[in-house]
Amino acid sequence: MSITTQLYTDKAVLPVLTVLGLIWTVRTVTGKVHANSEFTVSICVQMSMTVASLEITSASVERTRKLGTRLGELAEPGDVILLVGQLGVGKTCLTQGVAWGLGIDDYTASPSFVLVREYQGRLPLYHIDFYRLDRLEEVADLGLDDYLYGGGLCVVEWADKGLGALPEEHLLIEMQHLAPTKRKLSFFARGVRYEEMLAQMKLSTKVRKAKGR
Ligand SMILES: Nc1ncnc2c1ncn2[C@@H]1O[C@H](COP(=O)(O)OP(=O)(O)OP(=O)(O)O)[C@@H](O)[C@H]1O
Ligand SMILES: [Mg+2]
Repeated sequence: MSITTQLYTDKAVLPVLTVLGLIWTVRTVTGKVHANSEFTVSICVQMSMTVASLEITSASVERTRKLGTRLGELAEPGDVILLVGQLGVGKTCLTQGVAWGLGIDDYTASPSFVLVREYQGRLPLYHIDFYRLDRLEEVADLGLDDYLYGGGLCVVEWADKGLGALPEEHLLIEMQHLAPTKRKLSFFARGVRYEEMLAQMKLSTKVRKAKGR
């Protein structure tokens, strides 16, 4: 199955496809449409508006770090990963894994008043933390474009505080607390590059499940 097929047969998209399929059937039967024409157009529009998504439950710190490591391995120059979720949910833990995936051994979690930390691995990692920021204008004033549109990987914690000042195309990961050592990670890809990244993550989790790990 191709990557696009996998993405567009995602759970979130199936209801949309079902409804469009029903409309097409009715319109074809009633002679209101030539098979394929309008349906194809509307499905393309729907597809271009779709945000590909994936949900993973992590039952340990190690699993969260491993997910981060995979993201780090998949990263390409200019990638942007946005992290959202409450205090202590595991955003930094995930970022530590990302650093390892980029081959960075000396990653140290920074205090939250440090806005940008730079690490050098296979690609530069720019770890940005918006925790201390209160207003969107503050984010815009920071001049982060060299990081966000540079040749490294940007990981932004508390990205919800400055979404309007961040690139429209990104991989957003929302983390939720389920139990003391359990977290839900919801991935949302905006843009073709991130849909590809997400498809690779999906493949990795399938392989992991198949191996029973
Ligand atoms: N499955 C898990 N995944 C990630 N962290 C976990 C998990 N289970 C327990 N934890 C614990 O949750 C805490 C996560 O801390 P971390 O600093 O990564 O959170 P954070 O989201 O970056 O917080 P902040 O908003 O303060 O920056 C750690 O103490 C970690 O040991
Ligand atoms: Mg943190």
